[in-house]
Amino acid sequence: MRKVLPILLVLLVAPLGLATAAPGGRISVLCSPNPAWCDAIKAEFPKATGITLEYIRLSSGEAFARLRAEAANPSLDVWFGGTGDPHIEANEAGLTEFYRPQAWNDLRPELREAVAGKYVPLYAGILGWAINERLLREKGIPVPRSWRDLADPRYRGLVAYPNPNTSGTGYTMVATLVQLYGEEGAFDLLKRIHRNIAQYTRSGAAPGQLTARGELAIGITFIHDAVDQVLQGFPITYNAPSDGTGYEIGGLSLIKNTRNRANAIVFMDWAVSPEAQRLAAEQGQSYQIPSNSKTPTPRVAPRFQDFRVISYDFLKFGKASVREGLIRRWTREVEPLPK
Ligand code: F6P
Repeated sequence: MRKVLPILLVLLVAPLGLATAAPGGRISVLCSPNPAWCDAIKAEFPKATGITLEYIRLSSGEAFARLRAEAANPSLDVWFGGTGDPHIEANEAGLTEFYRPQAWNDLRPELREAVAGKYVPLYAGILGWAINERLLREKGIPVPRSWRDLADPRYRGLVAYPNPNTSGTGYTMVATLVQLYGEEGAFDLLKRIHRNIAQYTRSGAAPGQLTARGELAIGITFIHDAVDQVLQGFPITYNAPSDGTGYEIGGLSLIKNTRNRANAIVFMDWAVSPEAQRLAAEQGQSYQIPSNSKTPTPRVAPRFQDFRVISYDFLKFGKASVREGLIRRWTREVEPLPK
């Protein structure tokens, strides 16, 4: 019986997947959320599986560029997090492949359907603004309500948003305005907002941090990143524009031709389990809506019903021709304009 017990145990836990990985081995993760969440998976994944995890943290646009540069010889195994549009482009370019995790049926169907098997949904987050109301009050300027308000010259030098070349948040903003106002209307607005921009940041979380520290009054960012600043004690508020806002379905993708496929798959299964997804809020300062319906949604997570969220067309705005076209146009027509 003594010899049979361990075998029995293995047979019993095998269907659960998580505990069956042979201890040892390693995995390299391309990690795009808050670095605190990347640190949490680095600490906890080895405890759950015996596999060591290393990561590099890159914003979504930079992460996509890295995958493309390494297409012939990938050094990374899994792309964890980051906005969905570049995950779709990576899938269509053959840089990643879809792996159906064991918890697939527990993932929120609306998120699975919106990205049609191009990648595994990891979380959802709503685009909005971090607002330093004290700074606005000092200057006697009202809190903006709509995207159009942001073009008001009274906000000159007081706004930041992330560069869509590097940041998935920045691209989500451009794609949101195109979906709200059509491409010409969106670029007209982006050019007028440009005059008020103090800084185009590299990452999507940075505008919220600048606003929290009182350097700027309005930071365009995912609302959960503003929540992180509020929970750290900074005196800011957050909101989303009344004329409508976009959202992200954060991605999880298996990198194609990885030499570490078996370990990468163990990670994919683990990453969408409730045990792993809880780490986001508990250790990772990340307050998105988790994709697994069995993971508790953090109490502070911004909810869809509280904002006017558009029905974002991920499949269209993740297409290479659309995404690259809009980013090229922004770089050519908006960024170099004088302020
Ligand atoms: O900081 C977390 C987060 O907002 C994620 O929800 C999102 O996927 C990612 O950052 C986007 O970051 P970036 O705009 O830098 O690509």
